[in-house]
Amino acid sequence: MFHEWVRFMVHVLRGGERRRSALLMRRRPQGLFQPYGTTQEDRYPELFQSIHQLLADIPQTRLLSFGCSTGEEVFSLARYFQQAHIRGVDIDAGRIGQCQARWRREGRECRLSFACAGDVAQEETASYDLVMAMAVFRHGALGARPADCSAWIHFDDFDRVLGDLARVLKPGGLLVIRHANFRFGDTGAAALFECLRGEAALGSPIYGRDDRLLPGVPGDDGIYRKRLSSQASSSRGLSC
Ligand SMILES: C[S@@+](CC[C@H](N)C(=O)[O-])C[C@H]1O[C@@H](n2cnc3c(N)ncnc32)[C@H](O)[C@@H]1O
Repeated sequence: MFHEWVRFMVHVLRGGERRRSALLMRRRPQGLFQPYGTTQEDRYPELFQSIHQLLADIPQTRLLSFGCSTGEEVFSLARYFQQAHIRGVDIDAGRIGQCQARWRREGRECRLSFACAGDVAQEETASYDLVMAMAVFRHGALGARPADCSAWIHFDDFDRVLGDLARVLKPGGLLVIRHANFRFGDTGAAALFECLRGEAALGSPIYGRDDRLLPGVPGDDGIYRKRLSSQASSSRGLSC
């Protein structure tokens, strides 16, 4: 306990990203998944290319980066998509502040926007062509593969947020999940989607609906397409 407190104080005093993550873990807002803001410019170039080929780059196209951290994902997407509207959402107000500061420095493009939230309850139904949830539905502490993840993250939160991400996608819209500690296929929303492309398992531990570790079970990260309402959910399996 004393060691934990010392470590917390060291991170707080060091400042920067470590301070932000330490404070977020201490505050633990409702629905928090990955507290660390690790990100980088053009982090997923091959994936961004694929998405660029699947979606039209026109002003009507709307993209959402859920768990955008300090905004690198949004600004990178803005280079692949020169016309689309792109919104970044993150649970941490400080990170959203950094996104907005960069947005002001780099010309205040009105097609880019940011919001601080831990879910998408404020977003309109069927308003997005793409939702990216990259490295958000996980927790750094799970690298040690504890038998139960509920001290850090909960499947029920994942299921709830995925239901709402499905709601804000247009029919035919794309959902991209990467580096999750849960399987999208276990959620209630999964029946609304077909899998376009699965990602190779990267070795993240996977937890089930009961928050228990599923030893040796691979994840199902990938690109999913929301079915048109006319398509029967049972007509095709989710798996890629
Ligand atoms: C590792 S960063 C991922 C950044 C970026 N998506 C990437 O892949 O480079 C995870 C981010 O998810 C955010 N996050 C965690 N739980 C969240 C939630 N419930 N709603 C929105 N953002 C969340 C954290 O604040 C953090 O900035």
